Parts: sequence; C-alpha cells; structure tokens
Amino acid sequence: MIIANWKCNGSTEMVLSWFEAYNIEFNFENYDFDIFIGLALPSIYLNHFDREDSQFNFAEWGVQDVDHSDGSRTGAISVDMLIDMECDFSIIGHSERRQIFNEDNDLIKEKLKSLNNRIMPVLCIGETKEENDKGITKDILKNQLEIVNGLELDESFTIAYEPVWAIGSGLTPEPKDINEIHKYIKDVVQSNSANNLIPTVLYGGSVTDKNAESFFKEEFVDGALVGGASLDGTTFAKIVNIFNSTKKT
Ligand code: PGA
Repeated sequence: MIIANWKCNGSTEMVLSWFEAYNIEFNFENYDFDIFIGLALPSIYLNHFDREDSQFNFAEWGVQDVDHSDGSRTGAISVDMLIDMECDFSIIGHSERRQIFNEDNDLIKEKLKSLNNRIMPVLCIGETKEENDKGITKDILKNQLEIVNGLELDESFTIAYEPVWAIGSGLTPEPKDINEIHKYIKDVVQSNSANNLIPTVLYGGSVTDKNAESFFKEEFVDGALVGGASLDGTTFAKIVNIFNSTKKT
C-alpha cells in the first residue's frame, strides 16, 4: 500500500500535470493490481475530475482528515460526506493535526470510531525527536495506540508510523529499527483490539525514490505514506514501481 499525502499543496493545473507525469512513469505492464495506491489530495479537488477516466482510475481516493460529527461545525467534512463522494480512506491523527490544530487522542478516537467499518482509517502515530532521544518511543506509541483498546477494528484498519522528526526533514530511522517498531505496533494492536486485528503498518517520513527500497525490503513494512515526494508525479510513480517490484502484495 502506498499513499500520497499532498497536505495543503496543489492546484487544478498541478493535478493535471501530476497525473500526466505519473502515467508516463508508472509501470503498467508489470503492475500487481492488488496494490492499494491511495491519493489524499486536498479534499476540495476530490470531485474536480472524472475519477473514472482512465488517467485517474488506478488510484483509491481519500482525504487527509475528517470530522467525527456533522451539522454546525464550520469548515468540517463528515464521514457521511466521504461515503457520498465515494472516498476510499481517510488519514487521521497526522502529527501536523496534533501539533498545529491541537488534536488530542480523545478527539482522534472519536474520528476513528466514526470511520470504523465505513471508510478505511489510516491512523498516524509517531514520536518527537526529544522522545526518541530519551528512548521512550515505544511508550509514546503505546499511549497513542490506546484509542484502539476494546474496539472491534475493521480489517482495513491501517497505521502509518511517522516519527515526527523524520517528516519533511530528510532524516529517517534505520530500516531495521522501523521494522522492529512496526512489529511492536502490530503486536500492541493485536493484543488490545477487541477482534485481535493485526493492522497494515505503513512507514512515513522523508520517503523518496532513493530510500524506499530499503524500507520495503523489511518484513513488517507494508508500504509508505509519502508527503513531499508525492508532489511530483514521476517520483511518486517511481516509489509505486519500487514497491510493486519489492513486495507484490
Ligand atoms: P514527508 O511527509 O514524506 O514529506 O516527510 C510525510 C507525511 O507527513 O505524511
């Protein structure tokens, strides 16, 4: 599974040129059509294009965040609206939402509960540099994962492990360390969810076409959530091609 997170970037012109570049680079011939390729463009562009058109239809479409309720909530987009617009997934709990918009675990849990069994949730978790330096990464992740405790999780439930210090910095943990953390995340969710679900776990944070293979080779890395490198259609297609040839899942 590879997901593009465009964050607050893009324009009509950029979307069109992105797809053109993507479709030139994307290796259609050897593509395993079971691979989930998700695009989380700014949601205002979601219905701006004919998503059934062949230049767009390789992808699953999603959003970067969602609200847990509807009605008098200015600026919000609800899960019902995502279903109405035929969205496939929603990212929740991104560290930028936690830090800039002050979202806490209680709110993120409400979002998870409202998505669960309706739209695929992609829950982001990750430690800061300071927490990493202190050696408390696993404690921090366990705390962020408390929101799954006792929940009957949908089979599609996905986690993106994104160390905050790796996002947009060009720094990444060692692939073997990412692998160990992913195994830990799978174990925690399996032990604490009501249905003992083993989630899909993506890695996110400065993934590029240059380092992607080193992550995808690791056993418990099920894909990537790609920010900066997803803004270029050619680079994102290269990452998908690398995933396709390394994993075939
Ligand atoms: P990055 O962002 O790939 O630019 O580091 C990843 C993310 O924030 O999802």
